[in-house]
Amino acid sequence: MNDVKMETAMNPNKALWEKGDFTRIARTMRKSGEALANSFGIAKGLKVLDLGCGDGTTALPSAALGADVLGVDIARNLVEAGNRRAREQGLANCRFQEGDASDLHALTDQSFDLVVSIFGAMFAPKPYDVAKEMVRVTRPGGRIVMGNWIPNDPTLIAQVLKVSAAYTPPPPEGFVSPMTWGVEDEVIARFAGAGVAKDQIAFARETFTFDYPAPPSDIVRDFRHYYGPTMNAFAAADKTGRAETLQAELEALFDSHNTSPSKEATCIPATFLRVTVART
Ligand SMILES: C[S@@+](CC[C@H](N)C(=O)[O-])C[C@H]1O[C@@H](n2cnc3c(N)ncnc32)[C@H](O)[C@@H]1O
Repeated sequence: MNDVKMETAMNPNKALWEKGDFTRIARTMRKSGEALANSFGIAKGLKVLDLGCGDGTTALPSAALGADVLGVDIARNLVEAGNRRAREQGLANCRFQEGDASDLHALTDQSFDLVVSIFGAMFAPKPYDVAKEMVRVTRPGGRIVMGNWIPNDPTLIAQVLKVSAAYTPPPPEGFVSPMTWGVEDEVIARFAGAGVAKDQIAFARETFTFDYPAPPSDIVRDFRHYYGPTMNAFAAADKTGRAETLQAELEALFDSHNTSPSKEATCIPATFLRVTVART
């Protein structure tokens, strides 16, 4: 077994995200990714770390605004896709490398002005280690901005998880749901563990829109075949002969959230928790 295969076999978090092809989902996220980057207050030369960056939904527009961006992601295929997209867009100030948000040993202390993680670091196990690592690599006076999905929220992603969970066996004991990053008290406790006081953390509820010129059923198909967590739900549903029921339930869900006037297009707003930490 070569090193990469052995590491993947040993790290289920990495295997989950390398299993599919998140770029298929990310293409529905470009407009909101760009809008988010515009909200980061980027000045030319700002040193930005984008953690759990995927193929660069926020990293590339941040670089286009003049930041010096490093994208870090656990999935090798997404790091390759990010570097390819940066090359195609002529962004020499944006590079991507593999890394785990819960152990950023390759990155030095206090080396970034802004650490961003949009629906990224929330998926890393060991959330207390994640908070410590984000704080460690941010310079004093710098900021951390996270976008986290909210558990039990009525909008799309929490509902996709709720539907999927009904088809999937319960998680192993001790499993910490990524969605707990969407609970303010949890976020405060995790950053407190990294030495951050409560009054240095601000919360806001914002909207992220999944936007694509294809009907919702096509997007559901992409989730089914390319999004690791949903692929697992379908694999479990398949074993009990319920894959098509899951597909129908998800299609009904996506349809009911679609605000596009055309049935041939998808425009689905979803609420997330924006967390901003001021590093002193
Ligand atoms: C929902 S995607 C979001 C990607 C990107 N931020 C975006 O908005 O398009 C979650 C990303 O987190 C990455 N990820 C999951 N666990 C990680 C970890 N432990 N360390 C770094 N990245 C991780 C996945 O590989 C995936 O690219």
